[in-house]
Amino acid sequence: MKDLSPRPGDLEPIETASRDEIAALQLDRLKWSLAHAYENVPMYRDRFDAAGVHPDDVTSLADLAKFPFTVKQDLRDHYPFGLFAVPREQIVRVHGSSGTTGKPTVVGYTQKDIDNWAELVARSMRASGTRAGDIVHVAYGYGLFTGGLGAHYGAERLGCTVIPVSGGMTPRQVMLIRDFAPSTIMVTPSYMLNILDEFRREGIDPRETSLQVGIFGAEPWTNAMRAEVEQAFDMHAVDIYGLSEIMGPGVANECVETKDGLHIWEDHFYPEVIDPETGEVLPDGELGELVFTTLTKEGLPMIRYRTRDLTRLMPGTARSMRRMEKITGRSDDMIILRGVNVFPTQVEELLLATEGLAPHFQIELFRVGRMDAMRVHCECLPHLAGAEARGAAAKLLAKKIKDTVGISAEISVADPGGVARSEGKAQRVVDNRPKE
Ligand code: DLL
Repeated sequence: MKDLSPRPGDLEPIETASRDEIAALQLDRLKWSLAHAYENVPMYRDRFDAAGVHPDDVTSLADLAKFPFTVKQDLRDHYPFGLFAVPREQIVRVHGSSGTTGKPTVVGYTQKDIDNWAELVARSMRASGTRAGDIVHVAYGYGLFTGGLGAHYGAERLGCTVIPVSGGMTPRQVMLIRDFAPSTIMVTPSYMLNILDEFRREGIDPRETSLQVGIFGAEPWTNAMRAEVEQAFDMHAVDIYGLSEIMGPGVANECVETKDGLHIWEDHFYPEVIDPETGEVLPDGELGELVFTTLTKEGLPMIRYRTRDLTRLMPGTARSMRRMEKITGRSDDMIILRGVNVFPTQVEELLLATEGLAPHFQIELFRVGRMDAMRVHCECLPHLAGAEARGAAAKLLAKKIKDTVGISAEISVADPGGVARSEGKAQRVVDNRPKE
């Protein structure tokens, strides 16, 4: 893999600023953001008043902990535009959550928000190893989902040639990667695996492509998956994080030279990690729920938004801004099976370490009598098609899950191609338990 570390002069001054400088900027911006929310969004005014807090009382970053949380239901309750902090005419773009059922959660951006977003995605891409002049293949979905357009504007801002492919039509993805010779691909990790299969199906060596870096996010993925994709394509695989409520992709990103967690762009977003049960702020280093306060957003300021994503905060390394650990999962995706907590990422890691099995999987929850049970649907690699070899692989995976996670899972190994493929975010858990 090529050395894509930043060169002298590549970084913005704030990326290497001292912690004191960053904290001073954050405090200034936090005061502005709290006042902006209080003055322009009735929900925030009512909530702050009820909690007996006022933006003018904030004298340190720690004071933020006195303010109430915001949750996804608040966006639903004020659907579609009720939390916007500027007149609707100043909103130049609307996006929505990628939720598959019911109404989307709607978010809005002023022109300045869109500019900041493009800057931060450009910063994220540069951290990933992409440079001005590179060709960038965007296979995140375009539409209400923030992935496609978010990546697109960032790549343009960095000075790249953007190929706006969007998701789907996998053979065409392969053709365009070969014909247009991009250095960078931006796509969900599960769809990248789908593209990888297509390369193999067509008998093309993926290591021969022009790709040097993949910027993968929008869903949890593990370091085991990183190793798999890096090996298959001979390229760097870097993690990008974000959520529509806070902005979209580019809230945090890994640096290609370290790949040791995602640097949060703290000049625009103030992170906290809380105990999801008590709401108490946890010290850096402890695992809990990630909470964000936007520091510069005009259209839709978010104060202490509970992401449901589980991670821990760590000191900066390649940049001064703090890092978050690669996300274990969402609290909503956590499976509680007979009292044991299981995340799909744990299954992913063990699956990738099992010889003969492909990295595609889906977890089915069902009920036997009054007991909850779990079945992992996966598939074999083409060379392991025999019934005996499959049975052995299934047994091995079941044992690994039992030994590391502590639960008994059924394993079903299908033919190659037997597991449903994603073209965007993969659905890792299907819950077939009867509704109570
Ligand atoms: O998924 C924004 C995005 C697009 C991020 C493209 C990265 C790349 P939403 O659809 O609002 O926005 O979903 C946000 O996706 O709360 C996480 O649970 C999950 N997520 C996003 N990035 C990562 C990641 C976009 N790198 C939700 N690792 C978030 C793990 C991620 N989970």
